[in-house]
Amino acid sequence: MPHFLDLATVGRAGLRAILDAAHARKAARTGWTRGRPDADAPLADHTLAMIFEKPSTRTRFSFDMAMRQLGGTTIVTSAGEMQLGRGETIADTARVLARLVDAIMLRTNSHETLEGLAEYADIPVINGLTDISHPCQILADILTFEERTGKPVEGSCWAWLGDGNNMANSLIEAASVLGFDLRLGVPHGYDPDQAVMATACARGGSIDLLRAAAPTVEGADVVITDTWVSMGQADSKEKLGAMMPFQVNAALMAKAGDQALFLHCLPAHRGEEVTDAVIDGPQSAVWDEAENRLHIQKAILLWCLGKL
Ligand code: CP
Ligand code: NVA
Repeated sequence: MPHFLDLATVGRAGLRAILDAAHARKAARTGWTRGRPDADAPLADHTLAMIFEKPSTRTRFSFDMAMRQLGGTTIVTSAGEMQLGRGETIADTARVLARLVDAIMLRTNSHETLEGLAEYADIPVINGLTDISHPCQILADILTFEERTGKPVEGSCWAWLGDGNNMANSLIEAASVLGFDLRLGVPHGYDPDQAVMATACARGGSIDLLRAAAPTVEGADVVITDTWVSMGQADSKEKLGAMMPFQVNAALMAKAGDQALFLHCLPAHRGEEVTDAVIDGPQSAVWDEAENRLHIQKAILLWCLGKL
């Protein structure tokens, strides 16, 4: 079953097919109203279930619009509104939904819940964010880089700043599978997942973990960051203090150079991981990045449903 759980399991050929389809479909509907279906409506007669254990703006709206543009429909619910919230198992939930819909997107606290759903659902399951990874977002980021620069991501250099969180883990996977350089500027104690790092390095990934912001960004093609406190994590003065030297501000962007794009998956915490001058500045591509969630979700859905 072609689940979309993580970038490494999709593999290089699958990721490239998804990216190319997203570029092509986006170009084919230039100037159209957003609710108009694509000419071929390839997912007519298909329904996606979306289950959220955590809040979402971009993932929710982009998957919903993606299904509409592909000619299909969605059912959107929070996990708490389902019997899941009263203790029905993920395995039984998977078996039932697999009889009722064509694919499931899950945003969950624990990656194990996602894997459990995929194990028991004989329809495609898509990772809409877990504590470990956020693969849909990283593919949208790569789409944005390729669109803005006109260059393939392969061979580029990305600089991640701040927390070694789910976004960092998926970026590490992407770098090692697709073949681009990644520098991570992360303070001690907040490293990315060790298993993700070890697997990516064993795959031959060019990944450097640095402890200072300036050498991380120097000459990079992309400077990318995320919130210092992810959903479900406790806020602490100690963590904010450790992160502050990794804030993306105008001085740090100047060290990166004029060629560097700024990316952020959003929501942003202005004044913490990024300043207004950067996120609203000329090097920022964050609104294209948010729009590209839609275009990449469409290609991910088509890949999962055997339509690429
Ligand atoms: N970037 C992202 O996944 O946003 P949401 O949490 O709003 O879905
Ligand atoms: N790292 C963030 C990403 C939000 C889209 C979180 O998990 O909250």
